[in-house]
Amino acid sequence: MKPLLIKNKFVPRGKVIICGDKSIAHRALILSALSSGKTILKNFPIHDDSYATMSALGALGVKILRKRHNQVLVFGKGLRGLVSCRKPVFVGDSGTTLRLLLGVLAGQDFKTKVIAGKSLSLRPMARVSLPLRLMGAKISSKVKGNEEYAPITIQGGSLKGIIYRLPVSSAQVKSAILLAGLFAKGRTCVIEKTATRDHTERMLRIFGADLVTKGKSVYLNPGKDLTSPGEIYIPADISSAAFFLVLALVIPGSRITIRRIGLNPGRCGLIDVLKRMQAKIKVSYSKGNKTQCAEPVGDLSVCASKLKGRVVYPDEVPSLIDELPILMVAACFAQGITIIKGAQELKVKETDRIKSMVSNLKKMGADIKVDKLSSDESIIIKGKGRLSGANLKSFGDHRTAMSVVIAALAAAGESRIDDISCISKSFPGFLTVLNGLSRS
Ligand code: S3P
Repeated sequence: MKPLLIKNKFVPRGKVIICGDKSIAHRALILSALSSGKTILKNFPIHDDSYATMSALGALGVKILRKRHNQVLVFGKGLRGLVSCRKPVFVGDSGTTLRLLLGVLAGQDFKTKVIAGKSLSLRPMARVSLPLRLMGAKISSKVKGNEEYAPITIQGGSLKGIIYRLPVSSAQVKSAILLAGLFAKGRTCVIEKTATRDHTERMLRIFGADLVTKGKSVYLNPGKDLTSPGEIYIPADISSAAFFLVLALVIPGSRITIRRIGLNPGRCGLIDVLKRMQAKIKVSYSKGNKTQCAEPVGDLSVCASKLKGRVVYPDEVPSLIDELPILMVAACFAQGITIIKGAQELKVKETDRIKSMVSNLKKMGADIKVDKLSSDESIIIKGKGRLSGANLKSFGDHRTAMSVVIAALAAAGESRIDDISCISKSFPGFLTVLNGLSRS
């Protein structure tokens, strides 16, 4: 338990250095492991979730070395080189590790039991097990009502390609199916309702897979071995940068810059929405060496701004799903009403992030409520331009914890947050970066 007292406020100014992108890091590890050759991953973020993927791959026989300067070296085993693991493979609380790994394991002709940590064991898995079964994998899991949960036992091998329309907009599910598709007989096609982050597709192409995207459909033709590009540079994580972006927007007099940020269109929803709220954010896309791991990259400059409430629409949600908690904080500092429509996927993250954020922000004096319309949930925030310090709770969730730290720094008075150790899931250096800003 690591409580945090926040009483000394500061005006953030200067450069913010953010670690490499978590979503891209998982994919880089997995595809490097499945390719032939060695791959050096640069600007690699070390945190609980990336560690979960490294150690799960290690259990399946992949050698991964941590090097100096945030680099990791992966010794690829080729598409057919993973080895069976007698003990269960533990994936911690990393949802991306578990769901993507199930896609890989669906292609292996051995049986694996995958176990998860406490919070991940409560998160829905039928969304991945159903399509993987359609492809031919044999999967058993803990069943409760219509839902499935970890632990999951999967026996893969002899898969067939499928055409699958995603019932939930989830990049994790899309990625699991595409990874399984590498091992299938025949073409796999995933059709999305709303486009989600396409890191897997971009990275599969770098590794030489035969993959084509047409509108909201992705087609993968199996049969090609993956070849390492040798080196991958992971751009900075926009989901981690989001906390600093909002901090700078809501504290008068702030001005920060964040360099080499990943600007995948499937991740830029927060920037788009904040700009609609009249945030002063300048995005400069990198020229010359335009892409790093086939991802758009650029620099952000952010100045304190008078935000206005706006509507966020359901088809925007996948592009800012992880940033919704911090967007709720920004909305409290705006003038006017912000409505976030179709936010229900937030309920199945590390915690129910609608509950965690609504309860914390209410304690801070926010006017925030949830509106339920059948299965769709909207969050309605009447911005008052301020919050007050309070006793806050992280609910064991890293993004709730970092969002309330930012809210507390911008609020009047003191706040206390019960336990922020969960931040290590995605951003162990968060407080160090914050402290650095307070001194500059
Ligand atoms: C992720 C996709 C998102 C996101 C998660 C990481 C990924 O989940 O919330 O933190 O790396 O693909 P869903 O795809 O399930 O929405």
